[in-house]
Amino acid sequence: MELNEDVLILAIESSCDETAAAVVKNGREVLSNIIYSQIDLHTLYGGVVPEIASRKHIEKINQVIEEALDKAKVTLNEITAVAVTYGPGLVGALLVGVSAAKAISFAAQKPLIGVHHIEGHISANYIENKDLEPPFVCLVVSGGHTHLVIVRDYGEYEIIGYTRDDAAGEAFDKVARAIGLGYPGGIKIDRLSKEGNDQAINFPRAKVGGSEYDFSFSGLKSAVLNYLNACEMKGIEINKADVAASFQKAVVDVLTQHSLAAVKEYGFTKFAIAGGVASNSALRAAFERECHKRRIEFYHPSPILCTDNAAMIGAAGYYDYMRGMRSGYDLNAVPNLKLGER
Ligand code: KG4
Ligand code: ZN
Repeated sequence: MELNEDVLILAIESSCDETAAAVVKNGREVLSNIIYSQIDLHTLYGGVVPEIASRKHIEKINQVIEEALDKAKVTLNEITAVAVTYGPGLVGALLVGVSAAKAISFAAQKPLIGVHHIEGHISANYIENKDLEPPFVCLVVSGGHTHLVIVRDYGEYEIIGYTRDDAAGEAFDKVARAIGLGYPGGIKIDRLSKEGNDQAINFPRAKVGGSEYDFSFSGLKSAVLNYLNACEMKGIEINKADVAASFQKAVVDVLTQHSLAAVKEYGFTKFAIAGGVASNSALRAAFERECHKRRIEFYHPSPILCTDNAAMIGAAGYYDYMRGMRSGYDLNAVPNLKLGER
């Protein structure tokens, strides 16, 4: 690579129910970000059906990649490297993206970079916050993950808290189903909560023994289910908006308290959120307010970069590329890949 030459990453993401491809320039400039969401298909079944997800990825992946290159107005020849999510996620879904990336990398003779999905979520923050540099604390809240992470440097992570049971997004999805909102639940609870009273029902804020920074959401989910059952048995009409708002408030309280305690305890001045749940409006408002009070700089991606996308994989892939990380053609899907593991 010549000095001062732009680094263009073609990024591919297919770990769950979004088939996505993007072209990212120098880690922070998105030239294209194409997302084909399968949500409508999975809604029929009340959640993601892995077999259907894999098949749909196969149908869509080439089209999405071509669109990403077209929109960015670059040819495969002009791409510097190909980055792809190789874990964690659904194995069949991941394999589609990994296979496509390997084929392109081999055919175009471009380096291949396997990217960790969570590292992608965290890196989504670099795209719109050009001044954000590590170190900072990041709360990653998605459908499969709830991690409190210290980002020591690009690609250097220390997990200081995680969920002992359900992920935050999973709790949103389960409660949404219980009150009849359907899948995907997070955004629906977010919208309905705006019409409800978040003080109406006092749902528990779980503390986890032994760690100040760990989370647990299964007790909260059970408390909501018990409340719904009790109302039904007593013939009391349920105010869904109040249930949604009170549940959401309980999640937001726990996420903000634990995260801000960690920022303080570890002495950081910057805090970021990432993952699908990071697009929640009440969570963003709470962090906005609390960080401002404590003079902590608060970073968050736009909602479209919070939920699964390939631009975030391009941002993470760029920093991996610059650190000399390369994957071989033996790169495989790793469904339970841990953060910081290769
Ligand atoms: O990051 P993501 O797209 O996929 C995973 O890597 O899991 O996150 C999806 C999760 C789902 O559980 C969805 O319900 C939740 O993010 N979510 C939300 C909102 N938008 C998406 N949760 C709360 N409020 C939202 N606005
Ligand atoms: Zn995700």
